Amino acid sequence: MAHEVKGVIASAKGAPVSVTTVVVPDPGPGEALVAIQACGVCHTDLHYREGGIGDDFPYLLGHEAAGVVEAVGPDVTGLSAGDFVILNWRAVCGQCRACLRGRPWYCFNTHNAIQKMTLADGTPLSPALGIGAFAEKTLVAAGQCTKVNPAIKPEVAGLLGCGVMAGLGAALNTAGVTRGDSVAVIGCGGVGDAAVLGASLAGARKIIAVDVDDRKLGWARQFGATDTVNSASADPVEAIRGLTDGNGADVVIEAVGRPETYRQAFYARDLAGTVVLVGVPTPQMQLELPLLDVFGRGGTLKSSWYGDCLPTRDFPMLVDLHLQGRLPLEKFVSETIALDDIEEAFAKMQRGEVLRSVVVL
Ligand SMILES: NC(=O)c1ccc[n+]([C@@H]2O[C@H](COP(=O)([O-])OP(=O)(O)OC[C@H]3O[C@@H](n4cnc5c(N)ncnc54)[C@H](O)[C@@H]3O)[C@@H](O)[C@H]2O)c1
Ligand SMILES: [Zn+2]
Repeated sequence: MAHEVKGVIASAKGAPVSVTTVVVPDPGPGEALVAIQACGVCHTDLHYREGGIGDDFPYLLGHEAAGVVEAVGPDVTGLSAGDFVILNWRAVCGQCRACLRGRPWYCFNTHNAIQKMTLADGTPLSPALGIGAFAEKTLVAAGQCTKVNPAIKPEVAGLLGCGVMAGLGAALNTAGVTRGDSVAVIGCGGVGDAAVLGASLAGARKIIAVDVDDRKLGWARQFGATDTVNSASADPVEAIRGLTDGNGADVVIEAVGRPETYRQAFYARDLAGTVVLVGVPTPQMQLELPLLDVFGRGGTLKSSWYGDCLPTRDFPMLVDLHLQGRLPLEKFVSETIALDDIEEAFAKMQRGEVLRSVVVL
């Protein structure tokens, strides 16, 4: 039986999103039908609607979600109706060369998106990041459902499904921040602030938050930033060096996704330090750096996809930390909204008024 539910669609590049009827089939083999309880509005959803990620319109947006499994397909094991889950966009295959080498966070076969949801007229929908959770129900691969302790509120749990995991993991997994490190984070939206929180959790001794918006810098302090730099009025490279005895930070995390902020990260890092790129650039962006500086400054230049997380390992652990009061995920939730409010939430995100707007269903 197919389910007719309300969902949020981006129908064409740059066009405002709309709430419309989405047809969601019952789960087939390897699939799960999930009743969405909450879904955060991530900058990546806006990238989709602006055509920055692909041209497979119409998209069913939303990918930072938690909900309850309503039904599973015939051969699904380890997951059943009633389970509380966070949806992930990394259901690892266990068979590709990355998985077989014991590095499943680089799994090459995670594009297991179920492309079976349609508009009422049968037009196929592309679910954002293979999830499509700005909808009352969605159909995903069973492996995209990670069971966690249902004591956590859905509106905070869902955040671990994308942006907060990406930021926490950039610091904890990709950069491997450790006790005593100095860390700078450029761009303090939801993702950057999660990187600040991750650095704090790991025991960094100095955490420098950089943004062009003072409100964002104020919030970054609540997540553990020890110093802040408004890069609209001060040179962030000079400022970060000044705050680190003239050396630069051990780790600089770029959470904007632009060439100029990447260059700042590159030069604000100590010799042999680490740069982690979490921000997602557009296809047009180019980076030019003196190759001699790349050589001469040494160290490590990395990208972080989804915080190099392993959902089955990381989500339940982070939920436990939250329930113990050690991971204040609730501070990311600026407001809870309805499906009809997503276009306005994008505008608020662009005006810098929110860290996360979370749709609650
Ligand atoms: N790598 C991943 O797996 C992953 C996952 C989720 C999101 N992302 C990406 O991370 C980025 C941040 O996402 P978000 O949800 O936090 O977005 P956001 O819009 O909430 O935050 C971006 C922040 O950057 C700041 N900023 C903009 N221009 C700046 C500049 N020149 N210098 C300093 N700060 C500047 C903004 O004021 C804002 O605070 C996006 O590109 C998003 O697509 C990556
Ligand atoms: Zn996202």
